[in-house]
Amino acid sequence: QRDYRIASIPGDGIGVEVVTEARKVLDRAAARYGFGLEWTRFDWSCERYSRTGTMMPEDGVERLSVFDAIFLGAVGFPGVPDHVSLWGLLIPVRRAFAQYVNLRPVRLLPGTSSVLRDRTAAELDMVIVRENSEGEYSELGGRHGSGHPGEFALQESVFTRVGVERIIRYAFDLAGSRLGRLVSATKSNGIIHTMPFWDEIFAEVAADYPEVAAEQCHIDALAARMVQHPERIDVVVGSNLFGDILSDLAAAITGGLGMAPSGNLNPPGEYPSMFEAVHGSAPDIAGKGIANPVAQILAGAMMLEHLGEHAAARAVSGAVETVLAAGEAATPDLGGHATTAGLGTAIADAVG
Ligand code: NAD
Ligand code: IPM
Ligand code: MN
Repeated sequence: QRDYRIASIPGDGIGVEVVTEARKVLDRAAARYGFGLEWTRFDWSCERYSRTGTMMPEDGVERLSVFDAIFLGAVGFPGVPDHVSLWGLLIPVRRAFAQYVNLRPVRLLPGTSSVLRDRTAAELDMVIVRENSEGEYSELGGRHGSGHPGEFALQESVFTRVGVERIIRYAFDLAGSRLGRLVSATKSNGIIHTMPFWDEIFAEVAADYPEVAAEQCHIDALAARMVQHPERIDVVVGSNLFGDILSDLAAAITGGLGMAPSGNLNPPGEYPSMFEAVHGSAPDIAGKGIANPVAQILAGAMMLEHLGEHAAARAVSGAVETVLAAGEAATPDLGGHATTAGLGTAIADAVG
């Protein structure tokens, strides 16, 4: 019997709701494909912060290190400042485990529709490869001159050669296994230190991949292209912030935030990788039972793939497609009236 130890951190808001449904589906897949998922649930969240003053215990990262994978809902909720909740849990975990790839595949699934009119599934299929460990997300900087008219804030970005090269190489490898097209998001016309450095490394790595059609595009123009000509986009590589923004945009054109999964990967496999939806805790719909659990379920499929359970991973994504294609159990964001649990149960049943 193959057994995997999974750390589950449902977190806040709809994170808790969608993780419940995803576990339902994943447990069904495990039973059908003959392996075990041994879940350990951690209550690390804004609720915990309000009780104890910290998002996770001091040895939180150490406790996660023994698991085969981490399954995260979402963190952040009104009442706790976002920089406190996110820098107290999500970002430290990504960094401690060198999860330097944030892999965010999006495609238009059967039975769902794009906000872009007349676009087919074949035209809307891309992967955002987001740098996940450095860049614009940094604690360097500060605020100065409080109360004075000249008050200002400084925010430093950190781009290392190792960090930039490894994410770009990962994206080239991935593009090589897909359509062989890679576009790098840049802004070297406005950001004159880090972005030219990024572009230079991109050009160096490109020389090792003559079979991949590589191109760079300014992030502003790329955002427009993603909407007007998504069919030209296969793999996108971007810095931490650019990748973050582009992934919500890519999700929006392929059925919405409720559909987009994400893997925080440590490619050497030295540390656990972490799987979550692209979306957040959605306080505006939390507690109503109407969140779309598909993104979290597909993140579960990515986790199974990562664990080497390829058949089970395919069964989970296949079940999502079957249920969506049938048009039953659609949540309100998909134009239906089903609940989170209704859609989750339908997908679990389709797994068998
Ligand atoms: P959000 O992704 O939570 O919500 C944006 C919009 O999309 C909302 O209108 C929401 O209702 C909708 N939406 C999101 N997921 C949905 C789903 N599964 N089904 C239906 N509708 C869905 O983004 P936000 O409002 O900017 O952030 C809310 C909180 O979540 C903040 O505290 C933020 O910092 C945090 N956040 C956490 C993560 C994470 O833990 N990985 C990611 C993003 C945001
Ligand atoms: C995401 C989120 C986080 C990020 C926030 C909540 C810090 O938006 O995972 O996409 O920007 O990484
Ligand atoms: Mn984001």
